[in-house]
Amino acid sequence: MGNGIAVELTAARKPKPSQQALGFGRYFTDHMFMMDYEADRGWHQPRIVPYQPIVLDPAAKVFHYGQTVFEGMKAFRAKDGRIRLFRPDAHLRRMNRSNARICVPPIDEETVLTALKQLIAVDREWVPENEGTSLYIRPFIIATEPLLGVAPSRQYRLTIILTPVGAYYGEGIRPVRIHVEPDDVRAVAGGVGEAKTAGNYAAGLQAQEEAARQGYDQVMWLDGVHRQYIEEVGSMNVFFRLGETVVTPALSGSILAGVTRDSAIRLLRLWDIPVEERNVSIDELVEAHRAGALREAFGTGTAAVISPIGELQWRGERFAIGNGDPGPLARRLYDAVTGIQRGGEPDPFGWMADLD
Ligand code: COI
Repeated sequence: MGNGIAVELTAARKPKPSQQALGFGRYFTDHMFMMDYEADRGWHQPRIVPYQPIVLDPAAKVFHYGQTVFEGMKAFRAKDGRIRLFRPDAHLRRMNRSNARICVPPIDEETVLTALKQLIAVDREWVPENEGTSLYIRPFIIATEPLLGVAPSRQYRLTIILTPVGAYYGEGIRPVRIHVEPDDVRAVAGGVGEAKTAGNYAAGLQAQEEAARQGYDQVMWLDGVHRQYIEEVGSMNVFFRLGETVVTPALSGSILAGVTRDSAIRLLRLWDIPVEERNVSIDELVEAHRAGALREAFGTGTAAVISPIGELQWRGERFAIGNGDPGPLARRLYDAVTGIQRGGEPDPFGWMADLD
């Protein structure tokens, strides 16, 4: 291969799942990409190989000290059959920011973009076309050095796997119910909250399980110091329409800088809708709800896209938002983002990247 990526094709292609029942992250394509790092060689041996288990030494640092980062991005099949990626450059930039925070060596963003485009091209038949479906791309890096000293690993592996997906929360765009967590915190400023690293998700599982037992879809996190300011929701950033203004928590260092969050802010500004990135407290939301000013709430994320929030539960009280249907702004953003992604709408910011 001209770009130095070795390709080994599988002899046994898997049957493809029905596009009506993809769910999220259940089915994986026929191939994966891998590349290794050693301190004295840098990143090397880029290769596309059949999808397969990975074998690691039990002492590999990732198992003990959590030195791992991941990304999540999507490719779409447009109505004309072409496959395009949504903001892959922004995702790979963020991967390098996550890497820096936990001492993983930087990747060459262009090399990885070339690799993931080639991987998708190899597995292009797996990119679904139905409304609401996409190919979710999961690059991740793990520390592989077999050594139990607490210090940055000197060996890593980058892997990219692909999974055809439907909607993250059941089918289509439906308002989700959110439990606001008073006790557990996901991250604190100065920690690793803004890095896309596995431990942030593990930290959220206990509260998520409890919320699920009470019938809630997700947990909304408050800041770890004042236990007042909204941070984010399990798998999404969060926005509130207070009167005519849209408010979203400012990037404080403990919040993930979502690519869909950034896309929503840019679209709102393009539409001349006032949007503020600032601290917003749970007390302010409760007040606004009582005054009838909390018009809409919605989450944004690669997996979740734009996900309307229909209820917040805080300290045993339930605050219904809207009338059970997606609010107009969430609907408009959902249509705009998915329209750009599927190629049905103009792409004013040049977000879509062709495969070749
Ligand atoms: C994403 O939206 O891509 C995420 O990574 C969220 C979740 C699936 C972990």
